[in-house]
Amino acid sequence: MNTLFLDFNEDNIRIAGDLIASGQLVAFPTETVYGLGADARNAQAVHSVFDAKGRPADNPLIVHIAASAQIYEIASRVPEIALRLAGAFWPGPLTMVLPKQDSIPMVTSGGLDTVGIRMPSHPVAKALIESSGCPIAAPSANRSGRPSPTTAEHVMEDMDGRIAAVLDGGLCEGGVESTVICFDDAETIHILRPGLISAEDLAPYCKRVYVDPAVYSQIAPDARVASPGMKYKHYAPKAKILPVDAPDFESFVSYVQSHQQENTWCLLYDSDPEIPGIPCMRYGDTGREQAHYLFLRFRQLDEAGAAVVYVRMPRQSGADLSVYNRLMRAAGFEVITV
Ligand code: TXA
Ligand code: MG
Repeated sequence: MNTLFLDFNEDNIRIAGDLIASGQLVAFPTETVYGLGADARNAQAVHSVFDAKGRPADNPLIVHIAASAQIYEIASRVPEIALRLAGAFWPGPLTMVLPKQDSIPMVTSGGLDTVGIRMPSHPVAKALIESSGCPIAAPSANRSGRPSPTTAEHVMEDMDGRIAAVLDGGLCEGGVESTVICFDDAETIHILRPGLISAEDLAPYCKRVYVDPAVYSQIAPDARVASPGMKYKHYAPKAKILPVDAPDFESFVSYVQSHQQENTWCLLYDSDPEIPGIPCMRYGDTGREQAHYLFLRFRQLDEAGAAVVYVRMPRQSGADLSVYNRLMRAAGFEVITV
């Protein structure tokens, strides 16, 4: 298959929308990462998303909509708290897991009777959903286990020849995937996957916010989990990622210098000084910057031939928790404590 590389213009949005409507796969930018889209109601098309990614069949997809009212075509019941959150955070990087309608086939929901729904804010995503006339099921547009793509070129690295088209929207602003939540009761938000919309951001809209333990630690592969995606090792570059929890920069440096091997790199904060003799990349100082750069740097470290990457630990508060979670999952939840 020859994968079309499409700039964002009216003609191309029509072409891409027609492809989705006819059961083909189109990758597109969102404000978080690139998604790999198919008509969420078309079981055959959704099957080919799993094939193109090499994704386990029990890992459900997120359904993307372009207007809040479309939620009733996807969810069979919409609690009041979900409407409150949609009003506050949509369009934007918040995915809500709700009971699904029969119009959404089981392949889309990974065999569950619930479905994740989100309304992206990226203009290309919105235009594509509108042009196709379909709710669009879309996981991140990487091959399963690879870092989520934040540029159209990274999508091509993983998907060239496997899908009909990629819409180019440049570098994604957010950089980590959406916050995924479900509701344990009418007033309890349960965070299944942290994103840039943090527990603190959600707290004013409910009585309780509960963060799933799978955000902080490894889940056994055979365990029953609230969100199947959390049990798979994820986001990993080819290089070995080693987060180093050190009390200060000096102890980080002395650990790295005494454990340096061939093709050792460091991933540092922007404000950190150089480390003599060890090549470094940087991923920002704030959580938002680190989210924006993390997956980009993972792919660049692979291109640079890094074998081992020592990473300065991100923080765990607020939106920074999303960076911590992705880094820990790339590292298999192993941390070096100095
Ligand atoms: O920002 C994003 O969310 C991106 C863009 C493309 O929208 N999409 C994305 O999709 O990250 P994906 O498939 O890579 O991750 C979907 C996550 C998985 O962890 C999955 O387990 C969870 O959402 N999820 C989806 N539906 C669910 C459901 N019904 N119940 C529990 N978890 C669900
Ligand atoms: Mg993904």
